[in-house]
Amino acid sequence: MQLQQQALLRQKLLVLGSLAIGSLLYLVARVGSLDRLQPTCPLDGGLRPPDAGQIPLRSLQFKRGLLLHELLKGNGTPDPMRLHAPVQQLPRALIVGVRKGGTRALLEMLNLHPAVVKASQEIHFFDNDQNYARGIDWYRGKMPFSFPHQITIEKSPAYFITEEVPERIFKMNSSIKLLVIVREPTTRAVSDYTQVLEGKERKNKTYHKFEELAVDEATCEVNTKYKAVRTSIYTKHLERWLHFFPAEQFHVVDGDRLISDPLPELQQVERFLNLPARISQYNLYFNATRGFYCLRFSLVFKKCLAGSKGRTHPDVEASVVEKLQRFFHPFNQKFYQITGRTFNWP
Ligand code: A3P
Repeated sequence: MQLQQQALLRQKLLVLGSLAIGSLLYLVARVGSLDRLQPTCPLDGGLRPPDAGQIPLRSLQFKRGLLLHELLKGNGTPDPMRLHAPVQQLPRALIVGVRKGGTRALLEMLNLHPAVVKASQEIHFFDNDQNYARGIDWYRGKMPFSFPHQITIEKSPAYFITEEVPERIFKMNSSIKLLVIVREPTTRAVSDYTQVLEGKERKNKTYHKFEELAVDEATCEVNTKYKAVRTSIYTKHLERWLHFFPAEQFHVVDGDRLISDPLPELQQVERFLNLPARISQYNLYFNATRGFYCLRFSLVFKKCLAGSKGRTHPDVEASVVEKLQRFFHPFNQKFYQITGRTFNWP
């Protein structure tokens, strides 16, 4: 009888023990999953969560990491705006170019800001007639989900040089903020060439030397028909934009400085976009192997740009470099005048 009672007691203790361990495990799992799965705001007590099945939360998850990081830094403030459900918003700022200026680096670095949400892909809405014909709702549908206080930024470098684009953007939003990132024009042209060359080599195709493309063989003058040269005449393109937008709606980013010392450039953009200064040196660290700054989103989440950014350029004959620099010089002077930003270009 006593033995039976002892066995019963042991059984009860076993059940109670398992219940306690089970509850403990459940609590641990729940707390962990709250951090991973809930919408951004930790204060959204009574709110209806968004339909998780429909919302790609990837970008918001990045932002959640940042919020945690901000709180750890002690400058996170609970913001009632974050209590709204995320929606797809049209961009309030665009990185319109210039190709090979550092457009991807700029977008990714701005995305470090908790109030910025990037459209990851180049949408090519305004420069591609087929896409444009699909209408503004198609464009909006390509945007990431974000909260009302956040701004969406898209980048498509072809916008800068495509004739129809300024008018089309103006029709969507005449007060949109426009970012143009430029590099020393000859370096940019060589970078442009290097990208095309790499594409040809990947397909086992031969390609001209840069010198052959950039200089007209017959006249020995700079070949202005070569696209990589034309794209670097920044002022010509900008002048077209100024028919639609005032100069104050543009901010010019120094792409060479974004490579060597990105933070001051990013801080200027934060001011231009009327955003509180949130990107700090903590978010950027120099990676000696890559030879570029990489991004630190949080204690654990870091990333460098893809290997296609930061290619080794081929050597270009000094005489051709000089010829191009002399060619670009007057256009550069005009560009400085229009934009109010002077660069140390030759
Ligand atoms: P190169 O490949 O010629 O070095 P885009 O994104 O507009 O195509 O510009 C590419 C350029 O971004 C690269 O040109 C590279 O120099 C520059 N860049 C700027 N910051 C960078 C970074 N942190 N990591 C990699 N590339 C960066």
